[in-house]
Amino acid sequence: MSSVATSPKSAGPACAAGQPAVQLAHVTVAYGARVVLQDITLELPSARIIGLIGPNGAGKTTLLRSIVGAQRVLEGTVRVLGAAADAVRQRVAYVPQRRDVDWSFPLSVLDVVLMGRYGKLGLLRRPSKQDRELALDALKQVGLAKRQACQIGELSGGQQQRVFLARALVQDADLMLLDEPFNGIDTTTQSVIFDLLCEQRQRGRTVLLSTHDLHSVEQNCDQLVALNRRIIAFGPVDQVFTAPVLQSTFGSQVAVVGDGQTVVTRN
Ligand SMILES: Nc1ncnc2c1ncn2[C@@H]1O[C@H](COP(=O)(O)OP(=O)(O)OP(=O)(O)O)[C@@H](O)[C@H]1O
Ligand SMILES: [Mg+2]
Repeated sequence: MSSVATSPKSAGPACAAGQPAVQLAHVTVAYGARVVLQDITLELPSARIIGLIGPNGAGKTTLLRSIVGAQRVLEGTVRVLGAAADAVRQRVAYVPQRRDVDWSFPLSVLDVVLMGRYGKLGLLRRPSKQDRELALDALKQVGLAKRQACQIGELSGGQQQRVFLARALVQDADLMLLDEPFNGIDTTTQSVIFDLLCEQRQRGRTVLLSTHDLHSVEQNCDQLVALNRRIIAFGPVDQVFTAPVLQSTFGSQVAVVGDGQTVVTRN
């Protein structure tokens, strides 16, 4: 693993106790006999936007699911916001990868966003007027207030992603785990969303997002995790977004040219 220092590109406010957002120690995950994450040791600081990059099958989704407690870990320990994942579930917002969601469930756009408030409501309470206002405001922020009454399945792929992001925003979570949140999102909306994520960072929240959009992570993240079944590198973007690290992560599919721009090649 090529490990680099963990100081951020742009500093946000430190969390109260300087507590790392995520601590993984020697984590190994397997599906049956097949090990897909091997000996992952990683400490993610709070109040940062951190990009998670790696080729298809690198284990990005598996890593996010391990952090949120949805994936059993074979070996090692996972600490989230200083506690076991189960103990802080309500403080973690998870937006799954688009293909992992059943979009045919019969819920309106507003209902989906309101689901983000359920952790705060308790079992029997119905959403209050304030919860609905928060949900509508989040929909406004992602540019979908006018679609609040639509069935979620009627929206385009990019719009559905934005609804899930709104759901994560209303959850008011300290850690946001976003699995390919920009898949199918146009560049204008992408920059609106990054602005929202920067606001979260300002409030001391941590965002960990997986993506295949290398240009966008280079522009917008503070730190990067390069993953390919193992941690290839972790640290500030300018130290991870280098030709040697990208080539170790993606093989010969990626080349870095000129001022840090990437070119994806076929061999
Ligand atoms: N439920 C599962 N059962 C068996 N194998 C799985 C399962 N989910 C993932 N895998 C395997 O684990 C490996 C890592 O998958 P994962 O989905 O975490 O990768 P990824 O980096 O998120 O890929 P992508 O960029 O395509 O989303 C892959 O080889 C995949 O085939
Ligand atoms: Mg994935």
